[in-house]
Amino acid sequence: MNEVTKHEMIYEGKAKRLYTTDDPNVVLIEYKDSFTAFNGEKRAEMSGKGRLNNLISSKIFEYLAGNGIPLHFIRRVDDLRQLASKVSIFPIEVVLRNITTGSIVKRLGVTEGARLPRPLIEFYYKDDALGDPIITEDHALIFGWAAEDDLSIIKKITLDVNSLLEKLFTPLGTVLVDFKLEFGRDSGGRLLLADEISPDTCRFWDSSTGDRLDKDRFRRDLGGVMDAYEEIWKRLSGRSD
Ligand code: TMP
Ligand code: ASP
Repeated sequence: MNEVTKHEMIYEGKAKRLYTTDDPNVVLIEYKDSFTAFNGEKRAEMSGKGRLNNLISSKIFEYLAGNGIPLHFIRRVDDLRQLASKVSIFPIEVVLRNITTGSIVKRLGVTEGARLPRPLIEFYYKDDALGDPIITEDHALIFGWAAEDDLSIIKKITLDVNSLLEKLFTPLGTVLVDFKLEFGRDSGGRLLLADEISPDTCRFWDSSTGDRLDKDRFRRDLGGVMDAYEEIWKRLSGRSD
């Protein structure tokens, strides 16, 4: 079942490559060992990173699929690859924050590490040349990046994903601080959660020590980057070694 014919590479991003398959509606996603931060200004290669993000992301997608979230993810193929429905991605990044840290602290000067009274959803315009600027829903509507109905479905799925991920990670001694989602539409017009959910796209803090178990270790030069990703995988997969 793991035999998948890889055809043309159709896209290479900072962390993944996409290939066509025999089915025009299905793509093969290959996770890379590269780290980038600050809009690609900071880069590194770390062996094993692609595998861990593929394993973590697949596990989370399997859990979300089982809980009714509409996903582009079909199945994990092997250590580095997943099959997914081909989607056209909305040019919008959706960030949900439970706790203040990162860009919101820099932008607004609010206290670091404060739990918000309710989850905060932000939208960013996906444009590397502009550094993914923050936008309002009205920008998305007026410039045609998403329709009103799309945005309400996107917000509902984002809140549902937050509740489900908190339910998954809290018993694993892990605080879900914030995360970023991307959405797409398949050839049948279905709006699907896409991209990946991994320590690249979420902030995870250890519940007892507050240790960062995500890409902030790379962004902030904290060291132990791969150990943190390995630790998240260990918690998710229930391995005790
Ligand atoms: P931020 O505090 O830097 O805005 O990040 C918020 C969340 O979004 C955090 O979990 C990291 C994630 N994120 C991405 O996945 N990709 C990005 O390009 C950025 C800037 C953040
Ligand atoms: N994903 C962005 C980059 O690769 C920024 C980040 O995650 O901090 O540059």
